[in-house]
Amino acid sequence: MTGFRDQLVHWFEEHKRDLPWRRTSDPYRIWVSEVMLQQTRVDTVIPYYNNFVQKFPTLQDLAYAEEQDILKAWEGLGYYSRVRNLQTAVREVVEHYGGKVPDTKKEISQLKGVGPYTAGAVLSIAYHKPEPAVDGNVMRVISRVLLIEEDIGKAKTRPIFENALAEMISPDKPSEFNQGLMELGALVCTPKSPGCLLCPVREHCRAYHAGKEKSLPIKEKK
Ligand code: ADE
Repeated sequence: MTGFRDQLVHWFEEHKRDLPWRRTSDPYRIWVSEVMLQQTRVDTVIPYYNNFVQKFPTLQDLAYAEEQDILKAWEGLGYYSRVRNLQTAVREVVEHYGGKVPDTKKEISQLKGVGPYTAGAVLSIAYHKPEPAVDGNVMRVISRVLLIEEDIGKAKTRPIFENALAEMISPDKPSEFNQGLMELGALVCTPKSPGCLLCPVREHCRAYHAGKEKSLPIKEKK
């Protein structure tokens, strides 16, 4: 699978969008961006992210902020528990980790609101750890590449993707690998009409070879 990995990373490095959270290496800011991006589209997130890190430039600023100020900065993004949990979590980081976002899966996963996706995203993007970051876009891309016909709506399906990705992820460039999957899902391997003819990893895609790209991923109606 090194062909897939290297082609994906190369494509990402050449074609990545210039997004504000890609201009920082601050784990706190990367964390903020990933929390915002979980239920909200990139275009919507950009101005909120810029405003948020201007108001709360450091983890400490957020930890000591008034709740009404953080809710105000989140207004319009919805899912307000996300920002309440984030503030609880950064307070835990101040209290238990001297203000430094922990860099192990075990520690970061214990923070309020940090699930497997956020943990993997922050560890890989901010700390360059080879941890998978599986969200809906990544499941779509990987279900096609590996022709995984499991129902992605079921909780027990996620570990299938995490295990497959643990084998595939670039040990040298896990940030570029994970963001490459996200970028591919956003720009090429889209839900309804994927741009296979432009895809940098088409040759490795089992769904493409089987003509099944449009019928994956499988998501049964609840
Ligand atoms: N979606 C989730 N995380 C992202 C990121 N880091 N860049 C672009 N889109 C994303």
